[in-house]
Amino acid sequence: MRSFSVGIITVSDSVHAGINEDKSGPLVQEILRLRGFQRAASAIVPDDEESIRESIKELCDLKLDCIFTTGGTGFGERDRTPEAISPLLERQAPGLVHLLLASSLKHTPLAALSRPVAGTIGKTLVVTLPGSVKAVRENLDALLSDGVLDHVLDLIK
Ligand code: MTE
Repeated sequence: MRSFSVGIITVSDSVHAGINEDKSGPLVQEILRLRGFQRAASAIVPDDEESIRESIKELCDLKLDCIFTTGGTGFGERDRTPEAISPLLERQAPGLVHLLLASSLKHTPLAALSRPVAGTIGKTLVVTLPGSVKAVRENLDALLSDGVLDHVLDLIK
């Protein structure tokens, strides 16, 4: 099995402040580990555009195959993950965004409250996931189905 490297960024004020436990970041890691991905780096940042961008840039410098963020994609006042990451994307991946939303809407209409972005920075694929563990599972299921994620990463290499 090919092994891809992955960076995981948990975006959450409350997790960053130590108020809540990070459940979603470790879940991303575990789901991808079972599919042969190797976690190369992870970070926990507050819902702050500059912090998110800095973290993405740091992980991109590591030349990872992919980076997943979890959290901050909604409409809450502090939800700024899409705004932080969009300007950094060199090539947008609207098909992946469509896949995430279309598959999520089969689970719940509340999926419409997420504003995911995806695309490439250099040879790294960046995908934003919502913050809940349920949403992380559902979104990663869709990306991993029929080898979609592996195929994208093979093409980016
Ligand atoms: N997507 C899936 N697949 N399943 C879900 O339960 N929850 C939604 C949405 N996307 C959900 C989902 C909800 S309730 C919210 S508020 C948004 O993701 C945004 O979440 P975030 O701000 O934690 O990123």
